[in-house]
Amino acid sequence: MPAPFIQAHPASTLTHHTTMPDSKPLALAVAYSDSLLQARASQLAASLELPLVGQLTDVRQAASLADVLLYLSLDGLALQMTGKGAPGPVRAEFVHGKAGYRREHGGGTGQLVAKAVGLQKTRRQLTLLDATAGLGQDAFVLAGLGCVVTLVERAPVIHALLQDGLQRAALVTELAPLLNRMTLLPPADAIAYLNAAEGPVADVIHLDPMFPHRDKSALVKKEMRVFRDLVGEDLDAPALLAAALRCARFRVVVKRPRKAPVVEGMAPTMAIEGKSSRYDVYALHALPAG
Ligand SMILES: C[S@@+](CC[C@H](N)C(=O)[O-])C[C@H]1O[C@@H](n2cnc3c(N)ncnc32)[C@H](O)[C@@H]1O
Repeated sequence: MPAPFIQAHPASTLTHHTTMPDSKPLALAVAYSDSLLQARASQLAASLELPLVGQLTDVRQAASLADVLLYLSLDGLALQMTGKGAPGPVRAEFVHGKAGYRREHGGGTGQLVAKAVGLQKTRRQLTLLDATAGLGQDAFVLAGLGCVVTLVERAPVIHALLQDGLQRAALVTELAPLLNRMTLLPPADAIAYLNAAEGPVADVIHLDPMFPHRDKSALVKKEMRVFRDLVGEDLDAPALLAAALRCARFRVVVKRPRKAPVVEGMAPTMAIEGKSSRYDVYALHALPAG
């Protein structure tokens, strides 16, 4: 079942497929902080078919206008909940914060994702398709480790955040070589994209679909709920895995919460566990040594 795309909702509310009893559709709109950004914000609102609420300086006081804003400021594009006690902005961030720190001090090929992809087993530069790009954090780590990464994301709002993050990062000279190894395709469903491919599309395909949480603990993080409402629960992960298995040259790797069941379909060849997450590895052919 496809995720509930925001584009399909010309009005300002989102419906979603979650069964969580206390959730209601969120009203989403576009706003901007500075008149310099007005044209870009209008363009964004039009392309996402969302209402434009105009210039705002205090997004937390905009609760009467929308539950969530796609807020364009001089710091970039952010997803921002409104109202008292709302959590901070969510951006695709590659320069500062966690991603920046991890790039400078990260664990190289010893990291979970690098082990899953098999970077320690080959000296060849691998091509990788991240078919569930999200906010691009995993793709950024893999590009930082030398992979040439193509990113596919189907939720238009998440795609817009990711594109903005990549554009901001590309302005940082020292990140340019890394960013040159990352290509974001226009918003697309990876299942359709892969099913249309006639041969292998990449050496490795990386999947990190949303895991359909049903327990209350999944509601703890408000940001998580916003993200989940935007993208749905990715209940079509089995179809995505099947399509990926047909289109990867060497392996498919699937990120899951550590205790989650495997995605329905072919059994993985091995699992690599971290503290909170796990990678299920579907090895199709041995990676070339060099
Ligand atoms: C858990 S997030 C991925 C987070 C990402 N790994 C990161 O590091 O930021 C899952 C994302 O996959 C996207 N997604 C799920 N199934 C997809 C599909 N079939 N095609 C394209 N995108 C998909 C969702 O819209 C969501 O943004």
